[in-house]
Amino acid sequence: MNVVQTREELAAARAELGSRVGLVPTMGALHAGHRTLVERAVAENDDVTVSIFVNPMQFGPNEDLDRYPRTMDADLAMCEAAGVELVFTPTPAVVYPNGTAEVTVDPGPLGTVLEGRSRPTHFRGVLTVVAKLFSLVRPDQAYFGEKDYQQLALIRRMVRDLDLGYSGHPGPRARGTAGTLGVVGCPTVREPDGLAMSSRNIYLSAADWQRALGLSQALRDGAEAGAKGADAVLDAARAQLSDVDVDYLELRDPDLGPAPERGAARLLVAARVGPTRLIDNAPVSLGDPLSLGYQVPLGDPVPPRDPASQGDD
Ligand code: PAJ
Repeated sequence: MNVVQTREELAAARAELGSRVGLVPTMGALHAGHRTLVERAVAENDDVTVSIFVNPMQFGPNEDLDRYPRTMDADLAMCEAAGVELVFTPTPAVVYPNGTAEVTVDPGPLGTVLEGRSRPTHFRGVLTVVAKLFSLVRPDQAYFGEKDYQQLALIRRMVRDLDLGYSGHPGPRARGTAGTLGVVGCPTVREPDGLAMSSRNIYLSAADWQRALGLSQALRDGAEAGAKGADAVLDAARAQLSDVDVDYLELRDPDLGPAPERGAARLLVAARVGPTRLIDNAPVSLGDPLSLGYQVPLGDPVPPRDPASQGDD
């Protein structure tokens, strides 16, 4: 496994990689959630690059940049064990040679809701660094977690709106998947008790961890109420959030537009637990009497499902 810090080293190492290159961007402090992204990338590509960079641009002035956990040795061991070829561990000066990027990626309206309302500069920082990583590494496929669902949606949107998945790029990438850049979303990995894995979970005291379980329980209860409609989902979820300081609890469609009356939706929550801000989300099927958790009354026959309508929930 090759570990590189500079652009020159990265370019030289990149030139040696195979025809289908996967990229897993991270901020380090790797846990089992990150590992599933890395393992999937290793399974689906000839060679995998992991980037480890705590991106100052995506942290607000009062956020935890200085105390963000850093566990480089363990991170490299995990990458090596998973079969990663190349790890890019730049310093801020390598990523931002002029001290800061003046031209940045505007996340648009989707960057102002949910997380973007509490963290107004966050997604500009995320999208700018991800666009830079795409340019520097030129992956065929990039892997992101549904844990950060709005981030994933915005990265898909950026690739579409800015044509980052264009074809005909010179070099190894053109031999692989005709030069297209695929964004792969991976399901959230959870602790056995349901808490979504996060690098920030190490900040939680034992008591806060118990309170933090309210988030995943809210999503579970909300999803179970899906058949009864949006209000029931939000009520059931809110009932589990009395011990935490809720920032938002929202139901939206899978692309984060307004929630539909029926069909596929996404339930998203953010809350403070002690000093730590946590986020989580889950899919919900709205208004579908066959969805999990709804007992069809006896004697009330349910018509067979129209196979043509399957797949859109
Ligand atoms: P980071 O928080 O380190 O996360 C790196 C990737 O791992 C992200 O795509 C995130 O969604 C995914 N991930 C984190 N926890 C997960 C879990 N429990 N299950 C599944 N996937 C999980 O997200 C970032 O870094 C940064 O914003 C980055 C994209 C690297 C840009 O700086």
